[in-house]
Amino acid sequence: MYEKKITIIKPDDWHVHLRDGQILKKIIKYTGKFYKRAIIMPNLDNPIIRCSQAISYRNRILRSMNSNYKFEPLMTCYLTPSTTLKEIKLGFTKKIFIAAKLYLRDSTTNSKIGIKKINDIIHILEYMEKIGMPLLIHGEEIDKNIDVYDREAMFIENTLEPCRKKFPKLKIVLEHITTKESVEYVKEHDPKYLSATITPHHLMLNRNHMFFQGIQPYLYCLPLLKKKLHQQALRKVIATGDKHFFLGSDTAPHLHKNKINFFGYAGIFNAPSSLLCYVTVFEEMKALQYLQSFCSENGPRFYNVCINKETITLVKKPYKVLKKINIGKDIIVPFLAGKTLNWSLET
Ligand code: DOR
Ligand code: ZN
Repeated sequence: MYEKKITIIKPDDWHVHLRDGQILKKIIKYTGKFYKRAIIMPNLDNPIIRCSQAISYRNRILRSMNSNYKFEPLMTCYLTPSTTLKEIKLGFTKKIFIAAKLYLRDSTTNSKIGIKKINDIIHILEYMEKIGMPLLIHGEEIDKNIDVYDREAMFIENTLEPCRKKFPKLKIVLEHITTKESVEYVKEHDPKYLSATITPHHLMLNRNHMFFQGIQPYLYCLPLLKKKLHQQALRKVIATGDKHFFLGSDTAPHLHKNKINFFGYAGIFNAPSSLLCYVTVFEEMKALQYLQSFCSENGPRFYNVCINKETITLVKKPYKVLKKINIGKDIIVPFLAGKTLNWSLET
C-alpha cells in the first residue's frame, strides 16, 4: 500500500529539560531517537551554574543515552546574580557552554536563584554580546500584579526591548513563544540577533484545552497555553517558512506526584511525540515544504553550527503515544498519552 513519507535532515531540539538521575535514564532515549543534538536546560534542582557542573552533567547524559544514538548534548549556563565573567568566558571559549539561560526569579521550575531584574547582569550581557554568546530567555515578567496571560507581552515591552536597544548585537533566543505579540516582535528583527523557539503543545493547543471537561494538569506549562488567536499566530508564522523560528520542544518531565499535587508543577513531557506533533501541524497548515527548515536548518544557522548530515524519515502511519513511563513507584505521563497520531518514525 502507498504510504506518504517525508525525509528530512535529522532535526535538533533547541530546548529540552532532561532532569537527572533515574528520570534522565528513563527519558533520554526519546530525545535521542528523533534528534541529533539538543540544548539542555540548566534548571536542575541543583542548577548548572559552573563549567565543572556542566561537564559532569553532560557526561551523565551521555552515559544514560542508548549508544545507538550519536547524540550531542549542548550545555547551557544558568545565569544568577553571582555569575562571573570568568565562568562565562571559560565556558564559551572552551565550548562547554553554547549559551546562557536567563530565568527571572520565581518565573518557573527551579528559578529561585534566577535574576531579579535584567539590570543586575548588565555587565554579563555586555560581555556576551562582545563574544557572540547567545542569551536564551524565558520571557515572562514576574511582577505578581501583571496578569499571568499578559506576562509574555509585557516582558517584551518592559525588559526585552530596552535590553535589545542597549545590546543590539547580543544574540537572543526568545524561548517557547506563545503570543502573536511575540511573533510580530521577533519577525521585525534581524534573525541573526533575535530568533524564537516554538513548542508542539503551543502549536496544537490553546487555553480552552486546559479546562476541557475539568482542569487538565498535564497541560499546565509555562508560559501558559494562550487564547486560540495566539495559537493561530504561531501556526501561521511557521507555515510561511520564516527563518526566525525553530524547533524547541520544551519537553519537561515531572513525576506524577508533583504534577497532581496541592501545588502542581509546570511542564509537559512531549519527547516521545514532539517531532510527530510538529509534522502533524505542518501538514495541517499545508506547509510540509517548510518542515525541514524549521526542524533542522534555522536553529543551526542561528547558533552557527553545521547542519546535520543524517536524515530521518517520517511515515504517514498511525502511532500510539505510550501511556506512562515507570519511575520507581511513580510514573511520568507523556503529552497525548494513549492518543494516536497520524505520523510515525520509519523503522
Ligand atoms: O512548563 C515549563 N516547565 N516551563 C518552564 O519554563 C520550565 C519547565 C520545567 O523545567 O519544568
Ligand atoms: Zn523550558
